[in-house]
Amino acid sequence: ARKIIIDTDPGQDDAVAILLALASPEEIDVLGITAVAGNVPLSLTQKNARIVCELAGKPDTKVFAGCDAPIARKLVTAEHVHGKTGLDGPTLPDPEMELTDGHAVDFIIDTLRAEPEGTVTLCPLGPLTNIATALTKAPDIASRIQEIVLMGGAYFEVGNITPTAEFNIYVDPEAAKIVFACGAPITVMPLDVTHKALVTKPRNDAFRALGTPVGVAVAEMTDFFERFDKEKYGSQGAPLHDPCVTAYLIKPELFTGRHINVEIETCSDLTLGMTVADWWRVSGREPNATFMGDIDADGFFDLLTERLARL
Ligand code: BDR
Ligand code: CA
Repeated sequence: ARKIIIDTDPGQDDAVAILLALASPEEIDVLGITAVAGNVPLSLTQKNARIVCELAGKPDTKVFAGCDAPIARKLVTAEHVHGKTGLDGPTLPDPEMELTDGHAVDFIIDTLRAEPEGTVTLCPLGPLTNIATALTKAPDIASRIQEIVLMGGAYFEVGNITPTAEFNIYVDPEAAKIVFACGAPITVMPLDVTHKALVTKPRNDAFRALGTPVGVAVAEMTDFFERFDKEKYGSQGAPLHDPCVTAYLIKPELFTGRHINVEIETCSDLTLGMTVADWWRVSGREPNATFMGDIDADGFFDLLTERLARL
């Protein structure tokens, strides 16, 4: 199984991404979960990460708290999408499991140094603050990373928090810039992909029909989270952004994209946090990321439902 660290700001879609990983031990070995401020403040994201591990029946998973604010900016949150707790929808008990001692950034650094080179994949599902801080503190880790598979950015779909920026990149563009320049292999799941992974009514019914606490909780989460996108974009259901990352680790053939250059806008007020993706390869700049463009959505939901049934 592939060893990963999930860096996350749960978030209902983060929660589903974590559940999918924890349900797939044959393909994915979750070394730890590192929480970051994003959808809601850190005090809630670290707690939500533990709630999700307990929901999965995996209270032994290591969960670390990380950075509580972006590198150079004030935190922007997304309660308008995820609700006050970040995990609105189902009623889940407060976690009994404790946080693991130590800072998330140190866990990331120590793990990459301790494991054989090229055997640990980072899976960022929120703002890139923890990852960039680790890369800045310990530049030697960059060459030890197997791959960074992240949810963030957009090209043809442009923005969801401003007209040109996707939330995770917008919240900490300086961090994103560091990550995209670090030299490790990067795979990106942008809105172009995730806005095709929509929880339509039949897909939501399929979660509920599992009849398990996990199935029902995921149905309730996506019911809640769905309201925002339905009202705002008239879409058919909630986009399951972050689970695209963990699904890619299990079935990469569900996704197609291009190896291209992606740069992050950090200066312009108008387009701050934009992922300038050279899809047509017109810039002459070196490719630094595989930027996905399409998903087999039916295949993705079949995989997700089948795996959630295992928990
Ligand atoms: C991203 O922002 C968050 O609201 C979601 O959890 C996802 O990671 C989508 O733009
Ligand atoms: Ca997220």
